[in-house]
Amino acid sequence: MIRRLAPSALLVLLALLTLPFVAHALSRPVLALAGEAEALGRLFHPGAWLANGAIYGHMLSGGVITLLVPLQLLPVIRRRAPRLHRVSGYLLAGLALVTGIAGLVYIALKGTIGGPWMSFWFGLYGLLMILAAVATVRHARNRDFARHRRWALRLMVLAVASFLYRVHYGLWFMATGGIGVEDFHGAFDRAMVWAFYLPYLAALELWFRRARRLRPA
Ligand code: HEM
Repeated sequence: MIRRLAPSALLVLLALLTLPFVAHALSRPVLALAGEAEALGRLFHPGAWLANGAIYGHMLSGGVITLLVPLQLLPVIRRRAPRLHRVSGYLLAGLALVTGIAGLVYIALKGTIGGPWMSFWFGLYGLLMILAAVATVRHARNRDFARHRRWALRLMVLAVASFLYRVHYGLWFMATGGIGVEDFHGAFDRAMVWAFYLPYLAALELWFRRARRLRPA
């Protein structure tokens, strides 16, 4: 019983833990759209409607998928409400596409605070999110549910990775007071731009391999 319920409990716990970050991601563009452009701080560029629109859309859609993608994976919804799972799946994949594409547009127009190094790794993050969203839907439509499940899990890792990025900084500050953090150009900053998603994706691939090995022939 506990073994059966543990994955669902962990998914709900993960969604709850993201709440403060989700509130941060959603509130800033909402305040900006309500006329308080300064809510976006340095991410707001007077007159640059495409870059501003991209970062608004990016933060709104990103906030929603951070909270809802883990809940989309709840087995109880998949089993008891398959229609809801399908409809919300299309919606979340669409929002993941918006998050990735809008992030890439913003990078192309304005770069990132950490310079080309950060832009490269964030660019790869955006491309992977787009790939995972497309592949998750494509395999579901082809009724290849083993692949669909693997891509859905990759999408979940990517959807919560932006939250994990902030968690890494929080823990690092608590442990070291911020060694290697220098306005997005320190050693820690330069490692974190890939370490918030690649190690988690790699761990997931190892887990898939192990599950394949253990599966009876
Ligand atoms: C998964 C959900 C995501 C959420 C919730 C999210 C949220 C945010 C938030 C809140 C900011 C504003 C900075 C801050 O206040 O901390 C931001 C900035 C940014 N995000 Fe995302 N993001 C997500 C995914 C992505 C992806 C996939 C990309 C890659 C294309 C990306 C690229 C960027 C860039 C380039 C910035 C501006 C960086 C800078 O120069 O400061 N984000 N994001």
